[in-house]
Amino acid sequence: MRHFQVLIWILCLKVLDYVDSIVVCNPSEYRIVNECCPMCSPGNRVYKHCTEFTSTSCAPCIGSTYIDEPNGLPACLSCTTCDPGFGLMDKQSCRPSSDTVCEPLEGFYCTEPTKDGCKAAQRHSSCKPGQYIRQKGTKSTDTVCSNCTGESYSDGSFTSCQPHTQCDTLKLQQIKPGTRLSDSECGPQTSPPTAVIIGAVVALVLITAVGVGVGIFVFGKRKVFPCMQSDFEITATDENL
Ligand SMILES: *[C@@H]1O[C@H](CO)[C@@H](O)[C@H](O)[C@H]1NC(C)=O
Repeated sequence: MRHFQVLIWILCLKVLDYVDSIVVCNPSEYRIVNECCPMCSPGNRVYKHCTEFTSTSCAPCIGSTYIDEPNGLPACLSCTTCDPGFGLMDKQSCRPSSDTVCEPLEGFYCTEPTKDGCKAAQRHSSCKPGQYIRQKGTKSTDTVCSNCTGESYSDGSFTSCQPHTQCDTLKLQQIKPGTRLSDSECGPQTSPPTAVIIGAVVALVLITAVGVGVGIFVFGKRKVFPCMQSDFEITATDENL
């Protein structure tokens, strides 16, 4: 008995399915039970299904909701929010007839592009020390890095590798040789110039000392004796007067 009831039920459902499937509506209509109702236009939802005597009654999408195609939906769809946590921001805000369009934030590129927007974005990768930025990242492409080669370096933020400073051409001494990551370090020449300066100072002091010595000797000889002589003469003349 129970088996029979179940069988009847299944048969009924099958028949209903079949009846449903033979009710085919044209593309501007939607099917509700066994009726074809005119669709609501984008930006609107169904408020009341059509009847034998009335057409479909529609209502606009309000709040943060939309429907972007002709439809027979009883409710509008929720607008997408562009989540900064996923590297996204609004490109075009939500309208009743179109969903929000997102685009990558500054410094991000799109990893899941849509027709006119983006669904997911990722931060541009940064170049490592020893690499230069060969191509700056865009909204749709990641940064492209390349290794420095030869006698050049980059800390990862340069758009080209910088040649190492040649200390000797600056008349300086190399303290640290350059690497792919950093420039060479130059310092003042210590050994030869300092020796030269010290030598020069010593020489100057010696020359000055000798000069002063000779000066005192010669000047002294000339000044003391002739002056004393003339003083003597004057005094002598004075006394004679
Ligand atoms: C760049 O350099 C790194 C380490 O210095 C090395 O592992 C990598 O293979 C190099 N890449 C290319 C493309 O030469």
